Amino acid sequence: MHDPLIPAARTLTPLREFITGFSALLDQQPDEARILAEGGALLATLVARDDWLPDAYAHPHPEYYQQMLLHCDSAERFSIVSFVWGPGQRTPIHDHTVWGLIGMLRGAEYAQPYALDAEGRPQPQGDATRLEAGHVEAVSPTVGDIHRVYNAYDDRVSISIHVYGANIGAVRRHVYAEAGERKPFISGYSNSTLPNPWDRSKDPVAP
Ligand code: FE2
Repeated sequence: MHDPLIPAARTLTPLREFITGFSALLDQQPDEARILAEGGALLATLVARDDWLPDAYAHPHPEYYQQMLLHCDSAERFSIVSFVWGPGQRTPIHDHTVWGLIGMLRGAEYAQPYALDAEGRPQPQGDATRLEAGHVEAVSPTVGDIHRVYNAYDDRVSISIHVYGANIGAVRRHVYAEAGERKPFISGYSNSTLPNPWDRSKDPVAP
């Protein structure tokens, strides 16, 4: 029987190429604007096709959205996460404290940006943006860091692939109540095993 945790290595080639490309970009020590522009282009390429995410990282939980780690850079310069939205699921209003890129893989989601007023209460900034499959968005303390994200659908799963400028599951950040209360928050991850894009036995590396 096929183990859903061990897909054909070839299936994960887009993820491996994304990891390698993003690492090479960060090796150049680019500023945030360049990371969001050039890294966003790499993420757009990754989410342009929806044939690589193993099923084990695409299953919704009946109650909670799932944050599944797909890869963490060994120096924790970046992490890659699949967000799996069950029908109607949403995040609280939250921040990130580091740059983030959001690429829509399957279905659609809404992102509603917020800014804090003088009393520290989150106020919506404009309309929610609807992300369709293939689209990429950015967040950061520079370009806008507080938002709420939710599945655009009440009757189907949506999945987005996120890249953050840290090991995001270990970052101290915040959730905000509508009344303005700010609570510390460390998200962790929903999974304890990772996909393996590094089995290149069918695509060997030259000696
Ligand atoms: Fe977010």
